[in-house]
This record gives sequence, structure tokens and C-alpha cells, in this order.
Amino acid sequence: MNGSHSDALVFFGATGDLAYKKIFPALQAMVKRGHLTVPVVGVAKAGWNLDQLRARAEDSLEKHGGLDSAAFEKLIGLLRYVDGDYQDRATFADLRNQLKGAQHPAHYLAIPPVLFETVVEQLADSGCSTGARVIVEKPFGHDLASAKELNKVLLRFFDEADIFRIDHYLGKRAVNNVLAFRFANTFVESFWNRNYIKSVEITMAENFGVQGRGAFYDQTGTIRDVIQNHLFQVLTNLAMEPPADYDSDSVRDEKVKVLKAIPPIDEKNLVRGQFRGYRDENGVAKDSRTETFAALQLEVNTWRWKGVPFFIRAGKCLPATSTEIFGKFQKPPSLIPDNELVQNHLRLRLNPEVTIAMGMMGLAPNAEGFALQTSEMVASHSPSADEMDAYERVLGAAMTGDSSLFAREDYVEEAWRIVDPVLRGNPLVFEYAPNSWGPAEVERVSPPAGWHDPAAKGAFFVANEAA
Ligand code: BG6
Repeated sequence: MNGSHSDALVFFGATGDLAYKKIFPALQAMVKRGHLTVPVVGVAKAGWNLDQLRARAEDSLEKHGGLDSAAFEKLIGLLRYVDGDYQDRATFADLRNQLKGAQHPAHYLAIPPVLFETVVEQLADSGCSTGARVIVEKPFGHDLASAKELNKVLLRFFDEADIFRIDHYLGKRAVNNVLAFRFANTFVESFWNRNYIKSVEITMAENFGVQGRGAFYDQTGTIRDVIQNHLFQVLTNLAMEPPADYDSDSVRDEKVKVLKAIPPIDEKNLVRGQFRGYRDENGVAKDSRTETFAALQLEVNTWRWKGVPFFIRAGKCLPATSTEIFGKFQKPPSLIPDNELVQNHLRLRLNPEVTIAMGMMGLAPNAEGFALQTSEMVASHSPSADEMDAYERVLGAAMTGDSSLFAREDYVEEAWRIVDPVLRGNPLVFEYAPNSWGPAEVERVSPPAGWHDPAAKGAFFVANEAA
């Protein structure tokens, strides 16, 4: 299709959990900013009518982010509803009616992937796919083979340029800020490579469990839920080369190159954990071996990174909610005894606040002799309530046809290739206590001198803070 702005937004799964928690708040915010003025058609099979969907939207906004009366009234005015089975042609005939001649609708599939094929076929049969875009929610497949199959199905009916595979981490400003930090600052280039960096770790910790999503989570696990997608996006931002241009394809080309340089994960470089109590969650098998925690080590065999281990750790029911990158430098060839030297570090916190911190050694104030301590130089920013949320950003981008915040076909397949070998079989999963940093076995997959604890308060003396 051409570069026209989508003239309708259709969202399948309108009565579902994602719509309730993320989509209605994003739609209201888009309306408030004047970014959404076209009809919004919710589709679901719930036996509901438009008034019930409106009530659901109101409830969603009251619980998630707050209701803004003026924007909500406008959103309600744009909202339409189609109720019906996705197998039934009549549902799509009704959708066509509700689209009232829209030429470039964007169809957002906020539904389980098993339904994607049925829905896109029905969209094509009913003529709703002509001139349209399709936005697909994660998880994009279950493994490499299913992702390839899904790509095949989508590409049968849509051009790659009209397919928008959601990874909401691409809509997070803090994640994109990693690229700004790397490519807008000369000094970073001098050290951000294998000559100075000893290891890189990425931690995504959540201090809550599966929040009622047991049935989904038990089929998914941490590797599929957040590592193959969200954390690989963070990883590629950290490891990629500067793109030839800032258009979406040049940036995505560089990300794909990073993934291609990563060998598949070896079981010996992976530790899985499951928090105690997980098996009592609704929808979770009593003998489940699904991981709620994973720590792994990867190689990035590019010119820049060969020999530098990358560690990724993610989990539920950990002691903090935080996403943080921690790069450790080599130690200097100093005359100071090695055991007194702590390596410098770069700490990039992406969540809950955005922080860039450089850790360095200096003399400890108020101490005798040559006692050293690590101080951090910190630049930090807490997101304000009116900043765009990731979902608002990605939906807005898809409707203008901007692919830069979405995963390309080759990217998702490469990402699945890396994790594919460890997704099968009946893996070993170690139990861990809620509110701990995973099972003790994680020691086996740990950066030199251990994982940095993103929850440690006052871990470093802050160099640029007034005394
Ligand atoms: C989702 C996962 O994709 O991302 C969740 O399914 C996870 O399990 C969430 O909690 C994290 O997103 P955010 O934006 O809160 O970091």
C-alpha cells in the first residue's frame, strides 16, 4: 500500500486482557494528543454490544492510567463494535459495513497466534485486507518453525511493508535511548568494544508473578515471553554497528547482523528457575516445568564483540522491578593490587527510571591512606505521566506506516534461531524462593565477579551529588 495514514483502526480481541490493560489507555492518549481521529472498530466474540464495549473501555481507563473525560468522550464517539466468531464470514461482512468505505484500515490482531491465519484469510476473503495494514501482537510464534509458518501466512496476504510485528520494547524511549547514547556521543565509541569491555549483562527483573496469566505463561515461559523479543531488542541496540542511515531498514539491517553473529544458546550456558508457588497459580500445570526465571550467556561474534560474554537474566517474583544494563570494563594495568581494584562500569537503567551512570574508582573520602571506592557519575530522569507509553507509540507508528518500531521478518526468525535449541525437551528447572535472585544454580551462569544487583540501594557513592 502507499504511505497514507490508516483511515480506520480495527482491533481484534477487543474484550480481552490486553485491550483492557494496554490498548484502551493507548487509544485514549492518542485521541488526547490529536493523533487518533479515525473510526476504531473493536472485534470480539463475547455476545456483547457497543454499549458494553464502551463500559469496558471506561472501566479499563479508570483502572489503568485514568479517565480523561474530554478524550474519553471523543474516543467513545469513534468506537464501533463487531461481535462474532472469527470463523464466520458474517463477522467480516459486518466488519466491512462498519468500516464504511475506509480505504486503508489497520487491522490489529490482539489475539492468540493460533487465530492469526483464520483472521487474515477472512480479512482477505471479505475484501477488508485490500489497501490495509496488519499489526500482530506478540508472541510471534512459539519457536522457529511456527514463526516461519506465521510469516508465510501473513506474507500470503500482505506485503512486508504492511506487516507490523509488535514488540512494545521498541516503543520504549529508554530502549531507543541506548542508540542515542551510543551514536550521539563521541566518547562512547572509544570504549564500547572488546578492547575495553570485559562483560555485558542485562537484567529484567519483575517483583510480581504471573498476575492471573497462568494459562498463557505456562505455555510460554521467560525465554519466549521476554528474552527472545524484548531483551534481544535491548541486546541488539547495545551491540549493533552504526547504521548507514536512520531509516527503518538500515537500522533493522544492523540488528539482524548482530543476531546472525550469535550462535544458538547452549544448554550449558543456561539456568532455568521457577518460583515456589508458581504451580499453585490458576491455569498452571501441577507438574509444570515452565521457567519463570532464566539466566543465560551468549557470544556475539562480531568484530566489535568477539570474546566478550553477554549475560541475560530475567524473571518473575524477584526482589525488584527494574531493567538494567551493566557493562564491566577491563581493569587497568595498575600498580594497585588487583584485589583493591573494582573495574569501571557503565550502568544504563531503562526502567523504572532512565539512568546513565559511569562507575569509576577514586579515593574514599574520610578514609586513611590509599583506600579506594567506586563512585558513579549519574544522569537520571523519571518519566512523567504525560510521556507517551510504548503502546501509544507503536500503534501511532503503525498507523502512519512507520516500520522502525517493529520487528522485520528476518529479525524474528534470527531471534528464534538463537533460542530454538533450548525450547524443546523436558528441561531442568530449579525452584527459587519468591523475592530472591533466582535459584542458587545461577552461579553457573554469572558474569565475572557476579551479577550486579539493580535493587542495591546506595551501591555506589554518587560523584555528582551535592555533599
Ligand atoms: C510482556 C510480558 O510482553 O512484557 C510480561 O508478556 C511482562 O510478562 C511485560 O511483564 C513487561 O513489560 P514492561 O513494559 O512492563 O516492562
